[in-house]
Amino acid sequence: MTETKKSEWNSNITFVMAMIGSAVGLGNIWRFPNVLYSNGGGSFMIPYIISLFLLGISFVLVEYAVGFKFKKSLAQILYFIKEKLEPVAWFVLLIVFLITTYYVCVVGWDLIYVVLSLTKAWGSNPDVYFSSNVLQATDTIAGITTIVPTVLASIFVIWFLLWFILKRDLNEGIGNVSKILLPILCAIVVIIVAFSLTLPGASIGYTQIFTPDWSALTNLNVWLAAFGQIVFSLSLGMAIALTYASYLPSGSKLVDNAVVVAFSNSGFEIFNSIGIFSILGFMAMSTGIPFNKLVTEGTGLAFVVFPQVFNIMGPWASLIGPLFFLCILFAGLTSAMALLEGVCYSVSEKFLIERKKTATIVCIIGFLISTIFATGAGSLILGVFDAFLNNFALLFAILIECIIFGWIYKFDELIKTLNDNSRIKVGKTWKAVIKYILPICILGLWIQGVYSTITTADSSSLTIMAILSVILIVVPIVFAKLPARNKNFFNPEN
Ligand code: PHE
Repeated sequence: MTETKKSEWNSNITFVMAMIGSAVGLGNIWRFPNVLYSNGGGSFMIPYIISLFLLGISFVLVEYAVGFKFKKSLAQILYFIKEKLEPVAWFVLLIVFLITTYYVCVVGWDLIYVVLSLTKAWGSNPDVYFSSNVLQATDTIAGITTIVPTVLASIFVIWFLLWFILKRDLNEGIGNVSKILLPILCAIVVIIVAFSLTLPGASIGYTQIFTPDWSALTNLNVWLAAFGQIVFSLSLGMAIALTYASYLPSGSKLVDNAVVVAFSNSGFEIFNSIGIFSILGFMAMSTGIPFNKLVTEGTGLAFVVFPQVFNIMGPWASLIGPLFFLCILFAGLTSAMALLEGVCYSVSEKFLIERKKTATIVCIIGFLISTIFATGAGSLILGVFDAFLNNFALLFAILIECIIFGWIYKFDELIKTLNDNSRIKVGKTWKAVIKYILPICILGLWIQGVYSTITTADSSSLTIMAILSVILIVVPIVFAKLPARNKNFFNPEN
């Protein structure tokens, strides 16, 4: 039986670009502005930066250290730490995989909007156009039986692109795509921000970012929101950093890289929000709609409010519109491929399936699951998946990861790995953060997430959540029980 060949990044730059590409995603573009606005504007930067340094970078470092030290997939690493922990790895990877199935769908909607924006085909009522024409959304779960062909086709295109990237060698696929798309993405954001600042009323928007509401700092929810944004934005606990770091050659500077990635990701979202706020300021001034009514998040912002803005922007909208949706497309693609790489790596390592075949299997299954979101009830189910997987399952997974790496594994080994490979050193403070502070903060966020998910769910949502819970328990156990075809799987020294 042949060994699968171990991939390695061809340069540190490729690794850093791929890491930034994985972090910069939909969360940076449409989640951050709303979180910033609803949690005190300028003063939000304080909890945000503290969360970034104290918690975000700290956890990325754990993932880097573990991935770099073992140079293995998550499944094998957890098996090595304690045999019984292998199902936890499949649990994390399954959550990541399921998140990808709906993330791809949102990127698919965006692809449709790249095309629509060329002619502003959404007409004078983008709100109705989005739900009735694009999604053909139904109010109830019954819509699951009708397929929406355009959405299905665009989801297929995104899965095809992901397959095309993932089946290639690491540097040729993920490496090159990150090195091409990331600079384009940055250039687009610079153009959008520069243009947005010239719009009348821009200052109504961007001054919000710099106007602090100091009283917000005494609100615990604001601190949790800051931490939640960091978790989401840096893609913490999703085995991305761990997988990418396992492909690093020896001698790589881990802490330095983590700082560069975290700064770039936050820099991107702060800079981008100046553009979003300025455009919304322009909209507020032109239409008289109060600013706070315009700052929504997610699909409402991208597919409803922005098309409305492009409708009144004049000729420039034909350029800025497509650029805006391309920006979301590129950010989404580089994040989705990162989400899948960790999943593919564990599958390929345990079952000794070569990279190309693993990518094919994972992408076909992924596409089949994503078809649920291409139905009339798609957006409804997507909302339930998002709330359950992000607020509930993922945070729980991160909590377990903290306990495994901070308490069960010999943590001092990780300190040594990082300090041997960096100019910036870590020590006791980092250890205390991972062992005590981070789990407490995650627990706080988790309780808040569980509470809001359960209290807002109706009976069909609760049914979907119950089905997801069963899948999340059964599938990881089955995967851990399946015999490994790789004879070295149980012997991580090899
Ligand atoms: N951090 C990325 C984003 O902001 C990737 C991500 C995807 C994170 C899905 C969480 C969930 O979009």
